[in-house]
Amino acid sequence: MIEIKNLKKSFGSKEVLRGVDLTIDKGITQVIIGRSGCGKSVLLKHIIGLLKPDEGEVLIDGEDIAKMSDKELYKVRRNFGFLFQGAALFDSMDVEENIGLALKENTNMSKPDIAAVVAEKLELVGLADIQNMKPSDLSGGMKKRVSLARSLATNPEYILYDEPTTGLDPVMSDQIDDLIKDLSDKLKVTSIVVTHDIFSVYDVADRVAMMHEGKIYFEGTPKELTETNDQLIRDFLNRTDKKI
Ligand SMILES: Nc1ncnc2c1ncn2[C@@H]1O[C@H](COP(=O)(O)OP(=O)(O)OP(=O)(O)O)[C@@H](O)[C@H]1O
Ligand SMILES: [Mg+2]
Repeated sequence: MIEIKNLKKSFGSKEVLRGVDLTIDKGITQVIIGRSGCGKSVLLKHIIGLLKPDEGEVLIDGEDIAKMSDKELYKVRRNFGFLFQGAALFDSMDVEENIGLALKENTNMSKPDIAAVVAEKLELVGLADIQNMKPSDLSGGMKKRVSLARSLATNPEYILYDEPTTGLDPVMSDQIDDLIKDLSDKLKVTSIVVTHDIFSVYDVADRVAMMHEGKIYFEGTPKELTETNDQLIRDFLNRTDKKI
């Protein structure tokens, strides 16, 4: 379980997070929406300790990650898969090396054992036999899948997705949404999905949170979101619909 309590973060004089409270239960898919620049990526980075809070707490299974040593933090991070905004693959490495990198550097696993994990994770994301391809030879959707396979390499309990469908066509976006659902069902992971794509919300979310002015403005089910009479949320949903 992830508990975010009164989380505050400023950059210079710019207050980005002004007291975020959000609890994410084990095994669910939590979607986070909100206007560009409202702090969604900053929030995700706090959850894996890439940024430290000015105030407040981020508890992962009851442990405050802001108080952890680098070693403890590293251990917790291994339990997280993170699909960054943009695929962030290493162009000089082939698919197998990209996916196996964390295992090669941080474990004593043999080459054949790593190859077996890579093959298994590629299978999970619906891509077989592309181990020897270079990222530059892959389509946008394939790159996302490969980076997802990479984030699954350490068998994480939590997967964080930052804009997983941005830049993909609607068919490919649907496939990535299906994959997010599939992984959540098969692996019983807890997923946090930041998205601009309102269709993704209805496709994958068990719960949805909307950020506004540095706080969680709304938290509920997708159905509660669509049925609300709140003008700010209605405007946000209407604008997003029109953009698509
Ligand atoms: N390391 C940093 N240093 C200074 N400012 C930052 C830093 N990281 C983020 N910001 C600022 O914090 C604000 C929130 O950024 P963030 O990337 O979280 O937005 P976002 O909600 O993810 O937007 P988008 O939907 O466009 O990805 C922005 O104004 C951004 O410029
Ligand atoms: Mg972002």
